[in-house]
Amino acid sequence: GTVTIGIDDIELATSHHVVRLDDFAEANGTDPNKFRLGLGQDEFSFPAPDEDVVTMAAAAAAPIIQRSGTEGIRTLLFATESGIDQSKAAGMAVHSLLDLPSQMRVVEFKEACYSATAALQAAVGIVTRSPGQRVLVIASDVARYELDTPGEPTQGAGAVAMLVSADPKLLEIEPVSGLNSADVDDFWRPNDSTTAIVDGALSVTAYLDALTGAWSDLAAQGGPAIAEIDRVLYHQPFTKMAKKAQVHLAGLTGEDLDTEIVEGAGDAGAADAGTAAANSAAASGPAAAAGADNSVATGPRDTGLATSTLYNRRLGNSYTASLYAGLCSLLDHDEDLAGKRIGLFSYGSGSVGEFFTARVVPGYAEHSHRQAVTEALDARVPLSIDAYRALHAAEFSSADDVSTPKVTAGPFRFAGIKGRARHYERA
Ligand code: CAA
Repeated sequence: GTVTIGIDDIELATSHHVVRLDDFAEANGTDPNKFRLGLGQDEFSFPAPDEDVVTMAAAAAAPIIQRSGTEGIRTLLFATESGIDQSKAAGMAVHSLLDLPSQMRVVEFKEACYSATAALQAAVGIVTRSPGQRVLVIASDVARYELDTPGEPTQGAGAVAMLVSADPKLLEIEPVSGLNSADVDDFWRPNDSTTAIVDGALSVTAYLDALTGAWSDLAAQGGPAIAEIDRVLYHQPFTKMAKKAQVHLAGLTGEDLDTEIVEGAGDAGAADAGTAAANSAAASGPAAAAGADNSVATGPRDTGLATSTLYNRRLGNSYTASLYAGLCSLLDHDEDLAGKRIGLFSYGSGSVGEFFTARVVPGYAEHSHRQAVTEALDARVPLSIDAYRALHAAEFSSADDVSTPKVTAGPFRFAGIKGRARHYERA
């Protein structure tokens, strides 16, 4: 039969520190519900001085390499919009930290939060040509906005590593995509700035316009109808944005889709959120409705909005990794995905939107990382708002020779800068 190609393995990693939005609200004199309900965010990950996109990327990819070795891996595609160099690919440092073979190509992809999807599609292309090869795709980002701007509570940090292969264990990527590109200044980062510049209101409409364009192109390309898509994942700059996108897609298609995210999970609730979402998904799902009184209206269709937003509420925005962190959250919390079709909407400001679909491979649930991810999120060390602000303001210049303080508990660290070059080591 035809060779299926897709995601064989996936891992999520994040930073050493966390900022709690309740603390942030208190320090700013803001109602905490502005963040919990208004943005759908509880916390954001924040890197220690000895962490960056390379250390998170290596931490995400290491367990994949440990499990399956390097055989057939001849390509490493690194997607980021918070790169560490204008010329050299950040993936080169990951290649070194993981002792990957020298018989490889290593390259960086950029188009805001979208580029991991471009990397994934390029990986599928390589494996289509050479089904014996496997491609390591890593999305890693640190989302930074200026202090005291509306974007600040939507910061975050995280990396997702994916192994793309033939006959994958998790997800078979289907061939049809809906695409939309439009030159728009909604969000960008000039070469001389470490923080992004954003027109918040425009970025939200640009995102929704890209969804409209990509969805209609999917139909024009002969892609599946909404009724043939069981779950839908969105890029999540903040989880409320996924809800806005879902409402928008419901409007475009006329389909009654679920629009509930788990709101106001709370501190203790962070651990309970999975259960809460699972309960709410079960309660509103077709099975629950069918098992109950038939006269009760069935309500909206459960497409996984609640289960796919659980990790991101705690990670914050991880830019290129965000959609795939949503995928991790869905795979780890939805117990009924075998054979189901997932629609994935990837958005990158500037802008590109892509809507593509994938089938979940039966047996996927044996590879759940729920415990490990939850432990990693719980293990982050909270920063006081004063400490966070000081860390945010402190930036290394590439012109200074520096050794970074040893802070991270992660497996890899950014050791410092010497002769204007960045150095990394195993922690
Ligand atoms: N209780 C409950 N809800 C409250 C509240 C309270 N006390 N106070 C405010 N809210 C609600 C508001 O009603 C609003 O809800 P709706 O969006 O449903 O209208 C929500 O909180 C946000 O409040 P504001 O409208 O006042 O907006 P803001 O000043 O907080 O800014 C933002 C929001 C523009 C998204 C800002 O966070 C931002 O600039 N973020 C960075 C850009 C971004 O993430 N854009 C997303 C699309 S672009 C993209 O996706 C690429 C990417 O990754 C950047």
